[in-house]
Amino acid sequence: MRIETVAVHAGAEVDPATGAVTAAIHPSTTFERDADGSFPHGHIYSRTSAPNRAALEACLTALEGGAGAVAFASASAATSAVFQSLAPGDHVVAPLDAYFGTAKLLREVYAGWGLETTLVDMTDLAAVEKAVRPATKLVWAETPSNPLWKVTDLARLGALARAAGARFVVDNTTATPVLQSPFTFGADLIVHATTKYLGGHADVLGGIVVARERGPLFDRLRTLQTAGGAVPSPFDCWLLLRGVKTLALRVERQSENAMEVAKALQGNKAVRRVFYPGLDDHPNRSVAARQMRMFGGMVSFEVADEATAFRTLERLQIFALAESLGAVESLAEHPARMTHASIPAQERQRAGVGDGLIRLSIGVEDVADLIADLEFALEPS
Ligand SMILES: Cc1ncc(COP(=O)(O)O)c(C=O)c1O
Repeated sequence: MRIETVAVHAGAEVDPATGAVTAAIHPSTTFERDADGSFPHGHIYSRTSAPNRAALEACLTALEGGAGAVAFASASAATSAVFQSLAPGDHVVAPLDAYFGTAKLLREVYAGWGLETTLVDMTDLAAVEKAVRPATKLVWAETPSNPLWKVTDLARLGALARAAGARFVVDNTTATPVLQSPFTFGADLIVHATTKYLGGHADVLGGIVVARERGPLFDRLRTLQTAGGAVPSPFDCWLLLRGVKTLALRVERQSENAMEVAKALQGNKAVRRVFYPGLDDHPNRSVAARQMRMFGGMVSFEVADEATAFRTLERLQIFALAESLGAVESLAEHPARMTHASIPAQERQRAGVGDGLIRLSIGVEDVADLIADLEFALEPS
């Protein structure tokens, strides 16, 4: 079955007791056992497993073509579990432009726990090769990366990780399973902030780890989920599954819209540079065309300076000025003052995140309306 069909049906079945086509929400924390202690309905206590969570995990397993999935209350909890599956003394290679929360976990939580980390530009495979050591047990990729939408060559990075004997983990949040299938490029684990495109309506926080195979690593992640207890609620799982049904439609529309917005911004005199993997001048366009089905819904662009960026953001009427991404409504934000504000200014500038940079999460609105909103906001004062 193709992903459009999987997204609607995986984890969803008609309820045999009532005939309900839409899943019920099961808030029960405890489940009836048989006298011999067995649990014929598959669940005992909702921290260890529960019907709505099992359905969500089955759905994401099918969407990514994996062997099993472990759902968490946020992607940060999912990411944390992946790092906890390592041992003190292990070394992690992660992207310089990883989601700031991922780098923060490595720097402020897991460094103290004995994990060593090297952050590198993942589009420079020679630099990754140099960073790998005998103790390297995990290579983390996030592509396209935030906020310049650099694209990492997953097939080559996966081969490099395999040769080093390290696990290969891909945060597939910004691409989604609709646009990119990391298991086909050798990933061992895929992480999603389900908070973003999978939920799709900016109303639920969640994270998930999908495993390529069942085995000791999957079992360890399951233990970290159930013993750690950072599990999503039944209602959160239900909301996520409801969101996933329209995932393919939304992501296709968002990608189409983003391409049109990127082209329109390129033609605007107030815009100095546009960052979108689908544009011919994007340095990783050929890699993106090879490993992605479309180029995604995230676009960034640069205007002259901070004052121009602030003025532009203030004048936008359809785009809400807010962090996060992947929902049906279009959002705009100023990375230097918002999502990337905790990074020291010099480091930020070196990474290409200037004061004139604006990041857009493109929604499913009419693209002509979005372009008109941006053009109005960019008009000179
Ligand atoms: C790529 C990526 N990974 C992980 C996360 C963390 O997600 P959460 O807020 O659910 O912990 C985010 C959040 O913005 C993200 O963009």
